[in-house]
Amino acid sequence: MTEPASLDAHELLTTTRAVRRRLDLERAVPRELVEECVQIALQAPSGGNRRAYRFVVVDDPEQRERVAAVYRKAFEIYRAGPTVATKAFEGDAERTAVQERVFDSVEHLARNLHRVPALVIPCMAGRAQDKQTVRAQAGFWGSVFPAVWSFQLAARQRGLGTALTTMHLEFEREVADVLAIPHDEYTQVCLLPLAFTTGGGFRPAQREPAEHFLRWNSWT
Ligand SMILES: Cc1cc2nc3c(=O)[nH]c(=O)nc-3n(C[C@H](O)[C@H](O)[C@H](O)COP(=O)(O)O)c2cc1C
Repeated sequence: MTEPASLDAHELLTTTRAVRRRLDLERAVPRELVEECVQIALQAPSGGNRRAYRFVVVDDPEQRERVAAVYRKAFEIYRAGPTVATKAFEGDAERTAVQERVFDSVEHLARNLHRVPALVIPCMAGRAQDKQTVRAQAGFWGSVFPAVWSFQLAARQRGLGTALTTMHLEFEREVADVLAIPHDEYTQVCLLPLAFTTGGGFRPAQREPAEHFLRWNSWT
């Protein structure tokens, strides 16, 4: 069962979750749907209206396995390391419980990534580390992530689930070699697993009230 085809804008924006456990590993994703999502992503804002990115889509099982092996390696290092999300909220039982659930789902994805029908790797022209000023960095990342999120929203509208992941970038070069991405010219910015979702019922997540994040006219 997939979600109803027509989600209104409010629903789409509040229920597009990181989907890891509920990716349908048995059902192929038609390339036409991926093309539609990319076409919609191109409407997103980009610095200088350049759209200097590319979407590399991996749907060949052997290539998926190679990419997933790199992702798994990065996950094992993350799992053992001090920045693992479950350690971030020590002393806060409620947040820790949430993070442990997220971690289980992150682990599930890492173990099953090779089975996900399509892996989408958006790449941005240039090398991120060459961008030295804040403005240059904002222009770099800010010219691609709006398109990534639009891709994710368009995917959800079509019954497809995604999750924005950055784990494999620890070994970006290895994935570049697998996929023949010109590493000196393009920076991989993330990896989106893409699959039909199993079951519906995605809901808005618990979030803090907006006032906590807002400042009016002055920070203080
Ligand atoms: C910059 C960034 C990096 C992320 N990296 C990963 C990752 O490597 N692996 C993963 O499973 N999820 C990753 N996530 C997904 C977050 O865990 C997810 O957005 C967060 O838990 C909220 O989940 P929800 O949208 O389902 O509420 C990343 C998200 C962002 C924005």
